[in-house]
Amino acid sequence: MINGIEINCRRCPTNIWKYRRMVVMGSGPPNADIMFVGEAPREMEDRAGKPFVGPAGKILNRLMNEAGIDRNEVYITNIVKCRPTNSGVTNRAPNLDEVKTCSDYLLAEIEKVDPKVISPLGRTATNFFIPNSSISSVRGKEFEWRGRSIWKARTIIPQYHPAMALYNKNMFDVLIEDMKVIGEYNREQESINLIYKNHKDFYKEVGKEKCL
Ligand code: URA
Repeated sequence: MINGIEINCRRCPTNIWKYRRMVVMGSGPPNADIMFVGEAPREMEDRAGKPFVGPAGKILNRLMNEAGIDRNEVYITNIVKCRPTNSGVTNRAPNLDEVKTCSDYLLAEIEKVDPKVISPLGRTATNFFIPNSSISSVRGKEFEWRGRSIWKARTIIPQYHPAMALYNKNMFDVLIEDMKVIGEYNREQESINLIYKNHKDFYKEVGKEKCL
């Protein structure tokens, strides 16, 4: 087990584990405020054992840069932790059985990292959080999601998958627009945290003065 994920996991009904080199765990600080959730590893991620290190990862890095988000400060993971493939040669999108089986790992990651905002990248990840939604109508908007918890609502802000820019360069501006929503949300949260901290420090100080 690493990060709660079995490195020899063979739960998948489609047996994609037969072709995998590595289970691709989430990566990033264990208490990150932002969590990005992609679809599934591709060949380069399967080789490296890390999410978003291939061509889509390069675009993700550029988008984060443009939006003022530091990759070292966010947690990046996928819904499906092994590379979906039928033959070991070509990649394919994960199917519903794979998403369903693997999502236990994602739910455990979310509970452990406890991010302030989760941004699903693309249709597959978005439909996990907001079933039957169309990505073009939910992208950039805030949603509440409870997952396995009745008590705790989490903020979800979906965006298009960065790989879109690999097929259509014109999509780049749209992708930046989406990523900037997350950057903005993060900055707002940081100022709220700062105000809260200043208040706490102030009242501590006042309390001390009263005691003197
Ligand atoms: N690489 C990943 O890790 N996830 C994706 O969704 C696409 C590429």
